[in-house]
Amino acid sequence: MHLQGKHIVLGLSGGIACYKAAELCRAMVKEGATVQVVMTEAAAQFITPVTMQALSGRPVFDSQWDRRPDNNMAHINLSREADAVLVAPASADFMAKLLHGRADDLLSLLCLARPIATVPLLIAPAMNREMWSHPATQRNVAQLRADGSFVLDVGAGDQACGEQGDGRMLEPEEILEDLIAHFQPKVLQGRRVLITAGPTFEAMDPVRGISNLSSGKMGFAIARAAREAGAQVTLVAGPVALASPRGVLRIDVRSAQDMLQACQAQADASDILIATAAVADWRSADAAQHKIKKDGSGLPPELHLVENPDILATLAASARGRSGALFCVGFAAESQNLLELASAKRVRKDIPLIVGNIGPQTFGQDNNALLLIDAQGATELPRNSKIALARQLIARIAQYGIRTIS
Ligand code: CTP
Repeated sequence: MHLQGKHIVLGLSGGIACYKAAELCRAMVKEGATVQVVMTEAAAQFITPVTMQALSGRPVFDSQWDRRPDNNMAHINLSREADAVLVAPASADFMAKLLHGRADDLLSLLCLARPIATVPLLIAPAMNREMWSHPATQRNVAQLRADGSFVLDVGAGDQACGEQGDGRMLEPEEILEDLIAHFQPKVLQGRRVLITAGPTFEAMDPVRGISNLSSGKMGFAIARAAREAGAQVTLVAGPVALASPRGVLRIDVRSAQDMLQACQAQADASDILIATAAVADWRSADAAQHKIKKDGSGLPPELHLVENPDILATLAASARGRSGALFCVGFAAESQNLLELASAKRVRKDIPLIVGNIGPQTFGQDNNALLLIDAQGATELPRNSKIALARQLIARIAQYGIRTIS
């Protein structure tokens, strides 16, 4: 539960995207948040307060003249209780209103009245593409950001009006991911992180190949955690069936050689490399152009294998790796003697930090246990979800005083 203990004011202004706010509310509650819904009069034209009350489990506030609060100051009470105010959907009109500090309905009133230093305001715009690209809206977005609000991206695609373009509200799960990210400490703000993830696939012929059981989940969790920490993340992924974390540049590759090439192209523009990929150690020396057929002899074909390049060791041995400009973190997937084997691997690959884990106990799972090994010694991160471990690992990496060379 990523929002456990958080109290969120979910504000709805008028727009067809209000239907997505219902799903968003439910998703936030599922993540452990308490959600207080506040609606404008226009929002109530699109979705009823009854629906939002049922989903949030709390009476909805929709008027600054609501007499329920003892002090009759809903705007003060609601904004003081909140860990964040999230306006989703935020109409063009509502953003214009916020920009000017106008406060003639409860939602804009509480946005203005919130303690600006401690209660962040997140805004998920939703509107027609012409309204979104209008200079007035773009000017308002820029000014709202300059005033300290967090204006989320908009989605692109089919719009309710039948047109196509930018301006639709992000999907509920995307807004949820941005909200969760918002609460994470920005320990890697501005850093550029390159991550390898998943298995590689080494073709023997057009239909068969050598691979392994890595699911890529750990690497994807680390990519998410790095982005949450404020980093610019590039994820070089082998063949996996996972959705990309939000805000991460993903480069899909198949073989170890492709992965090396993609990483080398990115390395100069990276400050940190985290190599989680389970790279196939060998590839076919002479992959067949057509499917290898049985020849009737009953004997298997002879396979000639050659060793794949070591991506991590190659980058660690590059000028940027050796100078420390590229801080290299490796993973060690072992099946026994974790401390001993992972420590030896760290020295062999000449990297400052290696993360040991027991391969068969983690491949494909949603949790893991890690052993962090550097020159000073080893630290255990006990079994936990991969995303929780990824956040702990990112926090540790941030402590190494990584240099940024642009
Ligand atoms: N690695 C890599 N390129 C390879 C092999 C491994 O970049 N060709 C990286 C992995 O991403 C990981 C680390 O090196 O960060 C260790 O990988 P692992 O599979 O545990 O070890 P190997 O180097 O393959 O050694 P061994 O097979 O002997 O355990």
